[in-house]
Amino acid sequence: MAILVTGGAGYIGSHTVVELENAGYDVVVCDNLSNSSKKSLERVAEITGKEVKFYYADIRDHEKMTEIFEKEKIDSVIHFAGLKSVGESVAKPWEYYENNISGTLVLLDVMKKHGCKNMIFSSSATVYGDPAFVPITEDCPKGQCTNPYGWTKSMLEQILSDIQKADNEWNIVLLRYFNPIGAHKSGLIGENPNGIPNNLMPYVTQVAVGKIPYLGVFGNDYDTHDGTGVRDYIHVVDLAKGHVKAIAKIEEKCGLKVYNLGTGNGYSVLDIVKNFEEATGVKVPYKIMPRRPGDVAECYASADKAYRELGWKAENGIREMCEDAWRWQKNNPNGFDD
Ligand code: NAD
Ligand code: UD1
Repeated sequence: MAILVTGGAGYIGSHTVVELENAGYDVVVCDNLSNSSKKSLERVAEITGKEVKFYYADIRDHEKMTEIFEKEKIDSVIHFAGLKSVGESVAKPWEYYENNISGTLVLLDVMKKHGCKNMIFSSSATVYGDPAFVPITEDCPKGQCTNPYGWTKSMLEQILSDIQKADNEWNIVLLRYFNPIGAHKSGLIGENPNGIPNNLMPYVTQVAVGKIPYLGVFGNDYDTHDGTGVRDYIHVVDLAKGHVKAIAKIEEKCGLKVYNLGTGNGYSVLDIVKNFEEATGVKVPYKIMPRRPGDVAECYASADKAYRELGWKAENGIREMCEDAWRWQKNNPNGFDD
């Protein structure tokens, strides 16, 4: 039996395929390559020594998805496929709702018709909105999202919960990621944003490699230890390993489960700059800018539930996250170069 990884050519997906294969699972990837390169999977094969079974497929394409389920024996789905740019989602809400929500509905229909009722879904800490408290536990109330991307995650959590409630043969794990950064130690795979990055770490590495002159720090007047925004950065390989643990949970027939995947530690923007400079010896010039609309002051997880119930906890610290992000960027200044 195999695990279907939708969006498996992307940043988190490619790292997860490595960890699944290392753990001995059969993996099938489908991706429409709208935000990724097939080269990531060639690199995955270089790391694991095993070809990745790949379907060029859009999750909204019922026929193509049916073909995959007819050809492969899929037992569970890890569902990464989706659009993820916050700013773009504000400008193109229809595209985000259509891709992320309609796409997931098609996928769920095909799964159900083939008796596959096991899913791990990529959710986000964004569903907590401006969190009611930190560290954020899973029972912290969901909040108001500030953009359509965030709403797609929040709505899909609701849809998946309702489906599981109506039919308890479904096993669904909602994983709420905090801020994934870093890259595989080999330096062969990593985050490959299109154009100017939105997120902090790819921005930092592109400043360090000389592609962008300086980092804009969005606000230094928050109520945090140095006034800049605090987040829970998590190494992408630790995050990937969390999915392997979640698959084991699904195999126990877990029903509906929700877990934060974070480290429990909060770092400010300036902490990241300092740690990056110390870990790599490369200077990151920065300028203080106005706050970015929609940002919250502090967002970090309680990762206790994932430890208690999945036996998972993040192992890499901030230094490794910075070193590994830098190794990837330095070795691949133009990403996968296509
Ligand atoms: P990514 O863009 O690198 O990966 C997503 C992949 O999905 C890409 O390869 C893209 O080509 C593919 N895809 C998009 N729409 C598709 C469709 N209709 N059919 C088939 N493939 C499609 O992003 P990522 O950072 O690896 O994120 C993976 C998932 O985790 C996403 O759902 C994202 O929203 C979620 N997430 C990411 C973060 C983060 O900071 N990176 C945080 C929280 C949640
Ligand atoms: C953002 C998204 C969130 C999404 C997550 C992962 C917003 C409001 N939130 O979260 O929905 O799930 O990415 O994709 O966009 N920063 C700078 N300068 C920069 C970039 C970022 O100072 O050039 C700061 C931000 O203000 C923030 C921190 O760095 O304090 C982290 O930002 P980012 O990496 O964009 O992640 P989030 O804001 O947590």
